[in-house]
Amino acid sequence: MVCIDEKIRSRSAKVGVVGLGYVGLPLAVAFSEAGFRVFGLDVQQKRVDLVNQGKSYIADVSKARLSSALANNLLEATTDQSRLGEIDAICVCVPTPLTKTKDPELSYVISESEVVSRYLQKGQLVVLESTTYPGTTREVMLPILERSGLKAGQDFYLAFSPEMIDPGNKKYTIKNTPKIVGGINHESTKLAELLYQQVADIVIPVSCPEVAELTKVFQNVFRIVNIALVNELAHLCEKMGLSVWEVIDAASTKPFGYMPFYPGPGIGGHCIPLDPYYLANKAREYDFHTRFIELAADINEQMPYYVVSRITDAINSKGKSLHGVKVLVLGVAYKRDVEDVRESPSLKLIKLLSEKGANVSYNDPYVASVRISENNLKSVRLTDEQLTSADCVVIATDHSCYDYRRIAQKADLVFDTRGATRKLRNKNIVRL
Ligand SMILES: NC(=O)c1ccc[n+]([C@@H]2O[C@H](COP(=O)([O-])OP(=O)(O)OC[C@H]3O[C@@H](n4cnc5c(N)ncnc54)[C@H](O)[C@@H]3O)[C@@H](O)[C@H]2O)c1
Repeated sequence: MVCIDEKIRSRSAKVGVVGLGYVGLPLAVAFSEAGFRVFGLDVQQKRVDLVNQGKSYIADVSKARLSSALANNLLEATTDQSRLGEIDAICVCVPTPLTKTKDPELSYVISESEVVSRYLQKGQLVVLESTTYPGTTREVMLPILERSGLKAGQDFYLAFSPEMIDPGNKKYTIKNTPKIVGGINHESTKLAELLYQQVADIVIPVSCPEVAELTKVFQNVFRIVNIALVNELAHLCEKMGLSVWEVIDAASTKPFGYMPFYPGPGIGGHCIPLDPYYLANKAREYDFHTRFIELAADINEQMPYYVVSRITDAINSKGKSLHGVKVLVLGVAYKRDVEDVRESPSLKLIKLLSEKGANVSYNDPYVASVRISENNLKSVRLTDEQLTSADCVVIATDHSCYDYRRIAQKADLVFDTRGATRKLRNKNIVRL
């Protein structure tokens, strides 16, 4: 029998990617581009159909790349999880959200582990990629997989390898972003390392899955803490009558020991607002309170409220009150140049402004409609009429396709939460 490592080296190994979302679909396409036969598994029939029709719903995967993978017969999407039995290496990229009380919601990982366990074969490699707290692979996944009767590290191999992709980032992709792998034993680490070497230029083995799990969460904690720090600075700068943007730009001239982070209306996406809670929650098992995480989350969660109070002040300064005025929000995606609205602070802003009686509409070239508090809102066209008729235009997401000069010229009042207009000198611009 040919072993999995030989199959990976000869690229005859079949790779399964479970969960065809922002993480899974780019990974599935990357493996097929490396010459592997890839099965993409998802529970959503619609996503599976779209993939098989060559229609990409993830901006980082172009139609051309998807079509080429299909044409080369190297990619097939399916909802049939029994196909897992035919696969050599299984990468699990299912969601890891939070419950309403901000506790880890591992039900997707657990239910998929149960499915994998049902079809697990001797010699298979299973890798969890979903972001989670240290211990998930060994404490949660491993015992479920061993219900198959197979022994981890001996009959099958198990590792954690966090996905590092940054949706919308054109410079750093799966290929040139170092990939961390940590297996439950030496053989598992080696196999996972070999697997990812086929799609990533640099693969970094670490001693165990827990290190790999904590590495990923720590990277996101680093971001949440630094974003909170600069959000706090924005508050202080407002009180001091200084521009936080000018301070950041000046600080960024230092070529060492400093890395710029920017303030904004809050944090969004499926990672930064959620992952740190996974660590905070796990830390409690060790009678440990992650104070930086709690403080950062608190500051960042207050940002939409702070922005609404600043918008209210700006509108007041024009002799109007928020109640009844027309507010046009630009950008509902959680960050620049993506279509993802998960946890987007823009949604919170629209909700809070509407609750205070403002008549709110939005434009986002990437997001045709959104649902906010039972209401469906559709993106309006960014016409001169929309800009001139709004009492306040709020730049909530700084998409690069926006013409900020035109926006500032046409609008009566612009509230810029992202510093997108910081090179402009118009008097009608108020910045965070
Ligand atoms: N989005 C990012 O930028 C990013 C970056 C790094 C890491 N991550 C992590 O990667 C994981 C996945 O995130 P995502 O953004 O790709 O999520 P997503 O919601 O875009 O995709 C997840 C997919 O998994 C599918 N799914 C759910 N349960 C399944 C099951 N049992 N079997 C098969 N498919 C199933 C869903 O239908 C969905 O298509 C999360 O843990 C996230 O924290 C995300």
